[in-house]
Amino acid sequence: MNKKPIVFVLMTAFCWAVFACGGGGPKAESNESASDATVAPNATPSDYDPKRGEGKFNKSNVTLGSIDQSMASKGEAIAATKCTSCHKLTEEKLVGPGWKGVTTRNTPYWILNFITNPDPMIEKDPKIQAQLELCLVRMPNQGLTETDAREILEFMRKNDGTN
Ligand code: HEC
Repeated sequence: MNKKPIVFVLMTAFCWAVFACGGGGPKAESNESASDATVAPNATPSDYDPKRGEGKFNKSNVTLGSIDQSMASKGEAIAATKCTSCHKLTEEKLVGPGWKGVTTRNTPYWILNFITNPDPMIEKDPKIQAQLELCLVRMPNQGLTETDAREILEFMRKNDGTN
């Protein structure tokens, strides 16, 4: 008896569940989202750059070196009080998407712009809008300083094991 096919089916189902709220996850199919597509109330303005997001951070003012461990541990401490009630460090969704892979899904300046001021990007960013449809919660502004945000980014990079 070969049990492999059933294991494969179960694993596939599990992956779908885990990735359902991730950046590239499958879009929920419902009549509601179909009608959203035709009405498009939050159509992305043509001057919005989905790789950069909206805010002061961009390619030229964000530079990354190899991971700074002391910044990463400060970021970890801030995340523990302000973020991990909604975000797991794995791929699993809690209230918001899991953080594993977040630094490979998004540019560093997109992350910094979003976490320092989520509201304008919730209105415009196609990826955030897709996540909002699945998570049904708008990420609140957590009042991060630029330093807080940079330290959290360092922690996310460490969590992802990217250099
Ligand atoms: C109340 C719950 C909540 C808290 C607290 C929260 N988030 Fe979020 N976050 C969300 C939700 C929900 C989303 C998905 C987008 C949306 O619906 O607004 C999200 C999305 C994100 C994303 C995009 C993820 C991706 O995969 O592209 C990042 C990055 C992020 N949050 C970082 C943070 C950071 C950093 C903090 C802490 C300073 C934080 N979040 C605190 C709920 C939360």
